[in-house]
Amino acid sequence: MKNYTSINDIDNINTWIEEAKKLKANPLEHKALGKNKTLGLLFFNSSLRTRLSTQKAALNLGMDPIVMNVSGDAWGIEFGDGTIMNGNTAEHIKEAAAVVSQYCDIIAVRAFPTLTDKEKDNSEQVLNAFKKYASVPIVNMESATGHPLQGLTDAITISEHAKVKKPKVVLSWAPHIKALPHAVANSFAQAMQKMDVEFVIANPEGYNLNPEITGDTPIYHNQEEAFKDADFVYTKNWSSYQDYGKVINTDPNWMITKAKLGDAKFMHCLPVRRNVVVEDAVLDTDSSLVIQQANNRTYAAQLVLKRILEGLK
Ligand code: CP
Repeated sequence: MKNYTSINDIDNINTWIEEAKKLKANPLEHKALGKNKTLGLLFFNSSLRTRLSTQKAALNLGMDPIVMNVSGDAWGIEFGDGTIMNGNTAEHIKEAAAVVSQYCDIIAVRAFPTLTDKEKDNSEQVLNAFKKYASVPIVNMESATGHPLQGLTDAITISEHAKVKKPKVVLSWAPHIKALPHAVANSFAQAMQKMDVEFVIANPEGYNLNPEITGDTPIYHNQEEAFKDADFVYTKNWSSYQDYGKVINTDPNWMITKAKLGDAKFMHCLPVRRNVVVEDAVLDTDSSLVIQQANNRTYAAQLVLKRILEGLK
């Protein structure tokens, strides 16, 4: 595998899940694979889980991770072609990606969407510029439209906790005070579409995700109806895709409660705002899988890095 930038880079999700479980059972088994290899982690945005779990994954494989907060510490990077750079940007991605490629064997990038320019966000300007101008493999640590390390993590977690052969999985929108990206919801939907699960989405009117992502997945605007017989409720806020990047609904009735959840397991990528997105009574009981999910971030990242390292040989 050259790059991991989308859930579509997963050829067979069941094989990947089984391999991730083996890595989890014996995380240091491939410690020699990454010896003398450097992973560069470039963050244009904040992170707790991705930043630490991806470094942990690299260390488990014997790699040396180096990290940079690009937005705060690097020169402002220009992504436009042919730009007269007499504004705030001091370095072009053509030089930046080529230079970092000399220091790193794999580059991992986090760059969120603008949520104001739909066309630019859908073009994945930053991620694709790194793919174009870097000479080493690229890993997506959450881009404008996808978070495939999280999506793989969530698939692993559902496989570990499923009690029936074909569980019902609901992706539910929940309220939030800020405009949030679609990336986690998009990659989760793509991952579930690859798995043998009954998958549905629940969101208010005006909050349908990109139809190119949701495809044939049933969409409910009635949360209670969607939750019927659910085994897993995966919750995430996202801003409107149609009225791009806008918060058009903050209805607290969409918050996840213990009463709504019933016997289903609660999942969320974290960070989560308590008693806005989900009530304490869910997070503070064994209905919640959020800590187990965060643990699996390491093994999802480790599997991706392992497959790329194997391709470097
Ligand atoms: N879930 C997730 O990506 O967490 P961070 O934003 O903290 O990395």
